[in-house]
Amino acid sequence: MEGSEGHTPVLIEEVCKLLDVHSGEVVLDATVGMGGHALRLGQMCGTGGRLIGLDRDPDALRVAGERLAGLACRVELRQADFRDAQGILAELGVEQVNVVLADLGVNSAQLADAERGFSFREDGPLDMRLDPTAKTTAADLVNRLSEKELGDVIYFNAQEPASRRIARRIYEARRSGRVLTTGRLAHLVCEALGVNPDSRRSKIHPATRTFLALRMAVNDEMGSLDRLLQALPGMLAPGARVGLISFHSTEDRRIKRDFLKRRSEGLYRVVTKKPVVASDDERRSNPRSRSAKLRVALREPAEGKLPGGVEDVEDAEDRDALDELD
Ligand SMILES: C[S@@+](CC[C@H](N)C(=O)[O-])C[C@H]1O[C@@H](n2cnc3c(N)ncnc32)[C@H](O)[C@@H]1O
Repeated sequence: MEGSEGHTPVLIEEVCKLLDVHSGEVVLDATVGMGGHALRLGQMCGTGGRLIGLDRDPDALRVAGERLAGLACRVELRQADFRDAQGILAELGVEQVNVVLADLGVNSAQLADAERGFSFREDGPLDMRLDPTAKTTAADLVNRLSEKELGDVIYFNAQEPASRRIARRIYEARRSGRVLTTGRLAHLVCEALGVNPDSRRSKIHPATRTFLALRMAVNDEMGSLDRLLQALPGMLAPGARVGLISFHSTEDRRIKRDFLKRRSEGLYRVVTKKPVVASDDERRSNPRSRSAKLRVALREPAEGKLPGGVEDVEDAEDRDALDELD
């Protein structure tokens, strides 16, 4: 696994401004990864502050541990799914936190390691588990699901328009042997779409959505996100800030709807009317940032000014547009 120096945290300045960590506060980084965001948030909470970092991947936690070792605040890292965050906080004797960040998806080291099976760019085992001790791999799903189930996974998780054709091609290919590698799967997707991946015009690889959909299914990513969203109000102190960074529309829609629902229940104030996206400079220097969307909410009752001088959605002139948050 590569060291933390190869990893650039997305939207880092925007995260720091909007999450506005104060000295002595308790911060939960639910996806600590290689500790990029956590390092800055930990510096902000300072001596007397507490930084709790979760990740499903023990390799990521090792890198984060080294990177965060010099922080003045108390640092506690746990291998866990963030769906269990509330239980972990209880074990640590923490009742409420002041800041939560979740930067969803996979980190750059996971993508770069062919053995983890997340990427179609290099051949490797069809694995895709964030937690390497989890039972089900992508190969298990690809070889076990019915054609219809495969098509549903690919369509509903990633809105792949050619999901049925792809599922059929995989299903047919299984007759002559199990599909066990990322290279083989990527090849089958290209065959299903009738494209040659080497001569393709689009910058997006034809297998992108299929790989995303399978990764989401292997790790039950939507299930984890839903459980986190459900638990968050009970974990946040009054005035606490929660920032969620997503990388595709299925996730972003879930987050947007949850924030609006919580707002109507009087639990949240929505800070970001539109999702915050990367600047042109960041998009150029860090391609992963191109699809990142950050949404931030405050736990009510929240007094005073919003972090970073941001205007509350409710106070914005176009109040009526609230239900149509982008
Ligand atoms: C985009 S990376 C986070 C990068 C991190 N913010 C940084 O600056 O280094 C996402 C991380 O979340 C972890 N992850 C994804 N889903 C998770 C879940 N449900 N629970 C805990 N960790 C998760 C992945 O293993 C990965 O390390």
